Amino acid sequence: MTQTDNDLQERTVFDLRDLTSPVVGAPMAGGPSTPALVETTVRAGGLGLLAAGYLTSEKLADDIAATQATGTRVFGVNIFVPETRPTDRAAVSAFRSALVPFAAERDVVLPELDGLLDDDDHYDAKIDAVVEARVPVVTFTFGLPSATVVDRLHAIDTSIGVTVTSAADAAAAVTVGADWLCLQGPDGGGHRSTFDRYTTPPTQSLDDLIREVSATVDVPLVAAGGIATPERAHQIRALGVPTVQIGTALLRTAEAGTKLAHANALADPAFETTVLTRAYSGRIARGLRNRFIDTFDELAPAEYPAVNTLTGGIRRAAADDPHTINLWAGTGFREAREESSAETVARFA
Ligand SMILES: Cc1cc2nc3c(=O)[nH]c(=O)nc-3n(C[C@H](O)[C@H](O)[C@H](O)COP(=O)(O)O)c2cc1C
Repeated sequence: MTQTDNDLQERTVFDLRDLTSPVVGAPMAGGPSTPALVETTVRAGGLGLLAAGYLTSEKLADDIAATQATGTRVFGVNIFVPETRPTDRAAVSAFRSALVPFAAERDVVLPELDGLLDDDDHYDAKIDAVVEARVPVVTFTFGLPSATVVDRLHAIDTSIGVTVTSAADAAAAVTVGADWLCLQGPDGGGHRSTFDRYTTPPTQSLDDLIREVSATVDVPLVAAGGIATPERAHQIRALGVPTVQIGTALLRTAEAGTKLAHANALADPAFETTVLTRAYSGRIARGLRNRFIDTFDELAPAEYPAVNTLTGGIRRAAADDPHTINLWAGTGFREAREESSAETVARFA
């Protein structure tokens, strides 16, 4: 597609400060993020993000087209940066063996080791897809985009966000050309966006991370992690960061594609607490404590994404069982409401 003068005139670079509701709907891979959730979040004045993680590039292109077909123009896509270190074959093999009986009880045949070792989550094809569709905002998790990728996105006036968990990573992201940062504190649901899968994620509080990064970098910031109530959003804004990113708060909304067993567990008194675990994917993530975590947490190696693919078939086969599937959730999970995401965004605005 050639760019016409008209395109150029219509295209303004996204700026967080232009949101009428200073709320980002977190990208949530694995089902919760849908074109409908993005559309509703944007209509409510926030920024909606599709989650590209685990999808094929064709499915991502379909989700982008479905979002654009709703008339939504200013929205984003979140992409996982692939691992650079090779997979530890022996560690994955040992975990595979530990999972075999559990999988067999559920009639699941685990994937062979060779199919697990070179998985880049279709990174290049996903970059092509967002460039082709001229998606206005692209965010990165688990690492930094290369200078080539940054240049391709900036050439089409796409705003680049990077999710970081430390002040050092924040500085590195700004150096490669990030236009804004999502600061992710330790209380958030789902994966921590450390740049190295072997790193133990920082325990620094979100408030302290905000203070440290605000003093050292000069790009707009979004704060994420455990922001479960409007009161907490207010506290964050008092620290000088107007825009909050909410994930868990959206999981039970009408437009989210959260599995029923996951959405129900968030409100079920039988699930009392969240924990950090590598059990499902090999990368540290926060979710409701369940029997799968209790059984496999100590056995799972830090071999993302191989462990994620290894456990994927089990999770698909047991999609109704909250003690087998991953129930990603932030510490404020009990505050998640069954409502329209438009109401959620309005409450946090
Ligand atoms: C179910 C779920 C899936 C997530 N998937 C992603 C993802 O694909 N990419 C990403 O950058 N963050 C992901 N996250 C993390 C969120 O972006 C955000 O940091 C987190 O939800 C904020 O904390 P909160 O859940 O307490 O609001 C996910 C979180 C959850 C709960």
